Amino acid sequence: KITDLQGLKQGKLKLSTITTTKYFMPRAIAPFCQLYPGIDVSLEITNHERVLERLNENLDDLYIISKIPDRLDVALHPFLENPLVVIAPKTHPLAQEKNIPITKLQNEPFIMRERGSGTRAAVEQLLAKHGVSVKVRLELGGNEAIKQAIGVGLGISVLSQHTFTPEAAMSGLTILDIQHFPIERHWYVIYPADKQLSILANTFFDFLQQESQIIANKMRSQIGM
Ligand code: PGA
Repeated sequence: KITDLQGLKQGKLKLSTITTTKYFMPRAIAPFCQLYPGIDVSLEITNHERVLERLNENLDDLYIISKIPDRLDVALHPFLENPLVVIAPKTHPLAQEKNIPITKLQNEPFIMRERGSGTRAAVEQLLAKHGVSVKVRLELGGNEAIKQAIGVGLGISVLSQHTFTPEAAMSGLTILDIQHFPIERHWYVIYPADKQLSILANTFFDFLQQESQIIANKMRSQIGM
């Protein structure tokens, strides 16, 4: 358990994190703010490319990404799994099938995240590896918009399992059992290796390492996964 530290009575914690953390981060920040009620948090939720730009501009204390960056002068710590899954309407013809060959994705209208998205980069990498080309019908700038589009039958997509919330499950979406999925990834906390973290940033970093799995398990049990 994290004890009360001197210097944490107040202060500002600045975070920028990729889109898939949007469900998780409030659930991590809430108990942290209860421990340290005097602090302020600013949380910028954006895509991978933009988080890296913010890192390069040194705008925040800590950054969360999923794709290991090219620059080597960073400290990089995995803290939670972030698998990517194929999401479709429950009524989709493949919804009841098991172990579906990845080549079947070629016949499906596909919804893709915007350029600069780490999700998109991981999907493109896997498809290229297996020589599969999908018909992208729609490109959308956010996971939420993609879930809506799947729900109204515009196509299927690959999204982080973290976006598969209780609402998504209730609104008639499901996960397809396609070969080579889930794409196994992690969330990483990163920051410039030569940066001296504030006590507050360090404490939040420790908190994430200790509590993330517990918070994620709680969230998962809500959707019975
Ligand atoms: P993205 O990153 O928002 O850039 O797609 C999300 C992720 O990689 O989990």
